[in-house]
Amino acid sequence: MNQASEKVLREEVEKRRTFAIISHPDAGKTTLTEKLLLFGGAIRLAGTVKARKASKHATSDWMEIEKQRGISVTSSVMQFDYNGHRINILDTPGHQDFSEDTYRTLTAADSAVMLIDVAKGVEAQTIKLFQVCAKRGIPIFTFINKLDREGRSPFDLMEELEQVLGIRSVPMNWPIGMGRELSGVYDRMKNQVELFQGDDHSQIKVQKVEDYHDPIIAEMAGEYHANQLAEELELLDVAGDPFDYEKVKRGELTPVFFGSAINNFGLQTFLENFLELAPKPAPRKSTEGEIEPVREKFSGYVFKIQANMNPAHRDRIAFLRIVSGKFERGMSVKHVRVGKDIKLSQPQQFLAQDRDIVETAYAGDIIGLFDPGIFRIGDSLVEGQTFEFDELPTFSPELFSKVTVKNALKHKQYQKGIDQLTEEGTIQVFRTVSFDDTILGVVGQLQFEVFEYRMKNEYGVDVQLQRQPFQFARWIVAKEIDPSKFRINSTLVKDKKGNYVALFENEYAMRTAIDKNPDAQFLEMAP
Ligand code: G4P
Repeated sequence: MNQASEKVLREEVEKRRTFAIISHPDAGKTTLTEKLLLFGGAIRLAGTVKARKASKHATSDWMEIEKQRGISVTSSVMQFDYNGHRINILDTPGHQDFSEDTYRTLTAADSAVMLIDVAKGVEAQTIKLFQVCAKRGIPIFTFINKLDREGRSPFDLMEELEQVLGIRSVPMNWPIGMGRELSGVYDRMKNQVELFQGDDHSQIKVQKVEDYHDPIIAEMAGEYHANQLAEELELLDVAGDPFDYEKVKRGELTPVFFGSAINNFGLQTFLENFLELAPKPAPRKSTEGEIEPVREKFSGYVFKIQANMNPAHRDRIAFLRIVSGKFERGMSVKHVRVGKDIKLSQPQQFLAQDRDIVETAYAGDIIGLFDPGIFRIGDSLVEGQTFEFDELPTFSPELFSKVTVKNALKHKQYQKGIDQLTEEGTIQVFRTVSFDDTILGVVGQLQFEVFEYRMKNEYGVDVQLQRQPFQFARWIVAKEIDPSKFRINSTLVKDKKGNYVALFENEYAMRTAIDKNPDAQFLEMAP
């Protein structure tokens, strides 16, 4: 690589920020995403994200909707530019679309924005997504939304972040009043107040101040609010965590921003601070050690495969996170698992509902590759020296069904379908140790529906799914396993690699099994 192109690669990597927004449904993710896209001048996208959201559909409608809308239903990637940065937002679907793909998508992000409703605090889906990010140790930024509504006290919310998620927090700004009484926020980093103005709160006034004792605040926001603000910030200064960038980078401390996405309030400060603090594309582990984004040769891995995007064909799109180098349309790369060179000729980038053909892309970007059935989750595509990226984690399923084929004559196709859909990551498959039954495991109900639909439409097999009462799966690592210890409210199965996994009906059964097997390890992810 010559010096000029090395410099370009460095600059391109430096300006990229690839992140996912994690939240519970209704916290305002769609609204926040749309506002961020608008900041980036992606005006033509205004409404698209919302339109997509408007189809709050029943699960059973999913296939029809998928057919009509192509990519729009399941997660995609949005890209925009702001202040010299190139931003990739990875969409993590909520509601019924929640699936293992949602978790895998998080592995392609370098940081996460955790969006929380000020009235509801930390909710179930946020906890699950947070845990996946926390395991990777990526930086997590918190945006507390809907400040224009009555909500919980900021101190209370910080306490909850620590108690429920186990993460310390450092408020970057602080609300002045709340709900109908909200007059603005105090920016602790820049020492300035941002005030709502006008009856509809549509204008925002920014005023630099000395510190939070500055009398200007009382003039602007009233004596009562100014006093309360000073009291609370004093308490934070004394008892709160100081801002520590190293801890933020390790995911041990989350910077917290307060605002209201729908009113655009606090968003610009959030975006600008976030872009400054969020990490550029990070290296990824491989069989040849860590692969740095500025490695001159291209490399990347597939983290998600989306089938049936085009109803007329059985096309799939393989989503690839570029880990290093520069991608150019038409380039040849090695598909490491199959040991062949392939040409990347129809790459796509996803902007909400539009699909654009990409000519070039850099480390940190996500591209969609046309997949005639040659990719699997976790596949590595590399240029130059051959290596493979570390396997993607297998996430613990929470819903289980016993699967049987209705017509015994179709057994061969049935087996082929199960094998392929497992490889694609649509479902996880287990076999019970006692009766050799086939049990499917998923993290979202939609995965069962996709499985049933695709078995019928792609393999011509009608399957019967029978829900099982289990809620937890734990991979067991032990010298010896005694199946008799897994009889009460639990069952022992093997995954497709032959690892033992225990399925439990409730937490009590799980605790009991853990107590009864002190020499065994019970893992949430496959070893
Ligand atoms: P989601 O993608 O996380 O599920 O949430 P979404 O953005 O759809 O927001 C959920 C609801 O919360 C929407 O109202 C949205 O308008 C509202 N919302 C988002 N941000 C704010 C905010 O800062 N303040 C207030 N007060 N509301 C906010 P909805 O009634 O469900 O939908 P809609 O009819 O308004 O579209």
